[in-house]
Order: sequence, then structure tokens, then C-alpha cells
Amino acid sequence: MHYKVSASILSADFGRLQEEVDDVIAAGADLIHVDVMDGHFVPNITFGAPVMKCIKSDVPFDIHLMIENPGDFIEDFKNALDREPKGDILTVHAETCPHLHRVVQQIKEAGFKACVAINPSTSLSAIEEVVDMLDMVLVMTVNPGYSGQKFIESALKKVSELRIELPDLDIEVDGGVNADTVSKCKRAGANVLVSASYLFGSKDRAKAIETLKNS
Ligand code: DX5
Ligand code: ZN
Repeated sequence: MHYKVSASILSADFGRLQEEVDDVIAAGADLIHVDVMDGHFVPNITFGAPVMKCIKSDVPFDIHLMIENPGDFIEDFKNALDREPKGDILTVHAETCPHLHRVVQQIKEAGFKACVAINPSTSLSAIEEVVDMLDMVLVMTVNPGYSGQKFIESALKKVSELRIELPDLDIEVDGGVNADTVSKCKRAGANVLVSASYLFGSKDRAKAIETLKNS
């Protein structure tokens, strides 16, 4: 299995955002995970497309929209790139999309890879009808809103079930992924590993990425 580390900039120093992004890319990050929160779907506000527009990245963006009505913002995030989408992933939450099929189509039409996220309390049935259209599924291992929260192990059951059903699908886990929890995630079948506090809090970020990929 090919493992990828998606560096969540939620734990970066926002005053030095570009430097922080350059640093984790140099340390071996495969994706830059951009946590967009609206204070409605989740109890926190971060930033939107205008801030993402200021970030340059040599590796694809992994944009995690924790916002209501995400379909209304797909074009804004496309325009925040300084190029056409190329391997960049756009994730919406199933819980925010009554018309999930339409939103997934819109993501793909914009040129992004399409991913749908599910919260710890959301079952796999929420994505059943669209999973064949997706490039990735994000199984949340915390309730979204903050970095540095405790890993919710019971969410991994969904990872295992998905992995059995879809051996080639990218399955991402997000929340509480660190040196202690990463091997459980991999055993369940996850191959895209998001990390904010563990990675940005490590003195040696290259070693942290190496640990996530090789533990
Ligand atoms: C949580 C975000 C995560 C978060 C992960 O709502 O979606 O991406 O930044 O943070 P850690 O890795 O510290 O749990
Ligand atoms: Zn995230």
C-alpha cells in the first residue's frame, strides 16, 4: 500500500504560513490539507479561499470543507489555485449535502478529485450511492472543528469495511493521527494520513512524516 501524508495547516503558524507550507513539503508531505471551517457546521472559524489563494504549493492541495452549502464555494476554491486543478482534492461533508450526488458532480466538473467526508457518528450508508464516483473517502477520526483532539478508534470499523469493499480507493483518516494511532489506521486500511498537531508540533518534521509513513 502506498501511504501519503497530508499536512494539515491548522496547526501551522498562520503568521508564517508560506514558510510553514514550504517546510512540511521539504520534510516530505505529499499533500497540503486545508481545513476550511465556517462556525456553523463546526464550532470554529478558520479561513476561506482568499487565504488559500496566498499559499503556493508544489504538492496538491487537499481541501477539507467543513462548511454549510459547500457547493456554492467550489468555484472560489478553484479560482484560489494559480493553475488548473491537477491532483488537487476537494472534500465536502455528507452531512452538509442533501444533494450529494449533484455536489460530487460539480466537484469533478471543476477539475478536482472528489472526496466525501463522514463524521464519527455518520454511517457508511450516507455515501453508498456516490462512492463509485469518488476518488477518496475521508473517515473522520475526531468530531471536526479543532486540531489536537483525541482519536476516536471506533471510526476505524468504517475504514475496514470500505477497504474490503473497495481495495483501490484512497481512504483518508483525519483527527488524532500520530505515532501512537497511525498503525491502527493503516491496519484498518487507511492510506492517506492527515496530521496537524503531531506533525507541526514535532521538532523534526521529516522524522514525523517518516514515522507516519513507516510505522
Ligand atoms: C479537524 C480537522 C483536522 C485537524 C487535525 O476538524 O479537519 O484536519 O486539523 O488535527 P490533528 O492532527 O491535530 O488531530
Ligand atoms: Zn481536516
